[in-house]
Amino acid sequence: MITKNLFFKTILFATLLFGATPTVYSDDDKREFVDLPEMMQQHQLVSMRDHLNAINEILFNMGEGDLDKAAETAENRLGMTSLKSHHASHMAKFMPEGMRQAGTNMHRAASRFALKAEEGDVLIAYKALQKVTGACVACHAGYKTHGANKSSITPKENKTDTRINLGLSQAEKAQFLAEMRKMLSSIQGVISGIGSNNPEQIIKAARYSGNRMARATPESVKKKTPPAFKEIGGPTHMMFEELIVRAETDDMESLAELTGKLMNQCITCHAMFKANE
Ligand code: HEC
Ligand code: HEC
Repeated sequence: MITKNLFFKTILFATLLFGATPTVYSDDDKREFVDLPEMMQQHQLVSMRDHLNAINEILFNMGEGDLDKAAETAENRLGMTSLKSHHASHMAKFMPEGMRQAGTNMHRAASRFALKAEEGDVLIAYKALQKVTGACVACHAGYKTHGANKSSITPKENKTDTRINLGLSQAEKAQFLAEMRKMLSSIQGVISGIGSNNPEQIIKAARYSGNRMARATPESVKKKTPPAFKEIGGPTHMMFEELIVRAETDDMESLAELTGKLMNQCITCHAMFKANE
């Protein structure tokens, strides 16, 4: 009881001192909140997970030297051709202009990549692919579809999202998702580095998501994540470290292959877990 009292007094003191409201649910995610109807939000997240799969498959195809297949994957799953299957026109109505534009940029970049890949020059294709991932990063930096008044990226009443719930608080989630966006930026930087044959850039990009990120995970989050999560998460950071080491010596094709393997980790984990209800 005494400790509890002390705890509240400390918070009260901190509040007086810093003028902050001590809410546990502070969501310091400053991105613009876009209120999509529930079904659409779910649909969007499913298609997002497929976006990441598509990038992974493209990297795999390129690693195999099959640029035609990479072009096909990009056009059908991310390019202008994919717009129909993503129900983009329905969704567009609910999006602010900037977000719509970011979406269009991504689809265009993917179609442009497909053309470059068909032309058959691998390095030029990687450069074009980097524009696609750049568009993913840009939209994620500006917008979110879950916010303070809609506590959830995956609402309780939704029965279609059966992924394991990590039960993160809003504040933990905000921080966790920010790390995830750094991971996406790392992938973007690595692809860009491969495209410009620039080991330094690969190393720099991979560093953000290596052991440094693993160490920075808050204790409270570590306590909430089950072993199965850590078994995927730990090796993911290690693979970024491996990229750093191998960037010094390996050729760009094998680095692309390693990046593709790394992305399997992203996909496996996204299929299994969600941040909260
Ligand atoms: C037009 C905007 C936009 C573009 C372009 C975009 N995303 Fe997203 N993405 C979002 C939003 C909004 C969310 C939900 C994020 C939130 O509310 O925190 C999201 C969520 C995700 C998620 C998490 C899915 C889940 O299960 O929760 C992944 C993975 C993802 N995006 C990958 C990608 C990749 C890869 C690309 C590029 C090929 C991409 N996104 C392009 C807006 C975008
Ligand atoms: C160990 C598990 C795990 C791994 C590995 C992982 N993620 Fe995630 N990621 C998550 C979870 C959980 C979410 C939140 C999904 C939700 O609640 O719908 C997420 C969300 C995201 C988002 C959405 C961010 C936002 O602003 O909402 C992006 C982008 C993302 N991940 C990219 C990646 C990339 C790229 C990789 C691989 C380099 C990766 N993730 C690896 C668990 C993981």
